[in-house]
Amino acid sequence: MNVSQAIKQRHSTRAFTQQAVNIEVIKNLINTAKHAPSGVNMQPWQVAVVQGKTKQTLSEGMINAFRNKNTESMDYHYYPTEWVQPYKSRRVETGKKLYEALDIQREDKEKRLAQWEANYRAFDAPIMLLFFIDESLETGSYLDYGMFLQNIMLLAEEAGLATCPQGALGEFPTLIKETLKIDKNKKLIGGMAIGYKDTNHPVNQYRTTRIELDEFCSFYD
Ligand SMILES: Cc1cc2nc3c(=O)[nH]c(=O)nc-3n(C[C@H](O)[C@H](O)[C@H](O)COP(=O)(O)O)c2cc1C
Repeated sequence: MNVSQAIKQRHSTRAFTQQAVNIEVIKNLINTAKHAPSGVNMQPWQVAVVQGKTKQTLSEGMINAFRNKNTESMDYHYYPTEWVQPYKSRRVETGKKLYEALDIQREDKEKRLAQWEANYRAFDAPIMLLFFIDESLETGSYLDYGMFLQNIMLLAEEAGLATCPQGALGEFPTLIKETLKIDKNKKLIGGMAIGYKDTNHPVNQYRTTRIELDEFCSFYD
């Protein structure tokens, strides 16, 4: 598989088989992904690889907190507080297509909530990755982090695995840091589901589109 194929083949996968993932494969992925560039080689990434009982404890904790409305503030702002165009429409379109793929109607709040909650179980993938960054680091390091995350996702494709990057896994930073005994001075960025794709599940048939090159790129001579 070449890089172009991996980039085009990758998509956010939201249903996984229960096939176990060899932890050595995950170690190798992360160990290769670390070759991502970063400003002055700061390498701002800190990763928790979570599976088994710990994953279950975290998922149950997040789901309980979500159901009981024990919300927390995220350690940073991932989304804008005010949505402007064209991002507003793109967001609406993405959500609409996702629920259509699952045949969930707009008014079916229960099913929508259940789908959202699946985020906290990393969509039942066997592995949940959680990403932390030192609180002293600035916006530039978040750029570096994105490159590292994309490396993981492309390497996963190469290894026959599928992924879903998840901002939702950054919604309960205190709960997660306390459970994993991670320093408070680390910010939780979010997480990633990783496992083998359930290719038959309707949610995985859904694909997002991209705008045309001339809509976002200008050429100057
Ligand atoms: C940093 C980041 C956080 C995301 N958070 C979530 C999430 O919490 N839940 C989810 O279902 N998808 C999440 N996504 C997936 C996006 O919805 C998805 O990347 C986008 O719609 C484009 O679709 P594609 O990944 O299938 O190409 C996230 C993507 C990124 C890059």
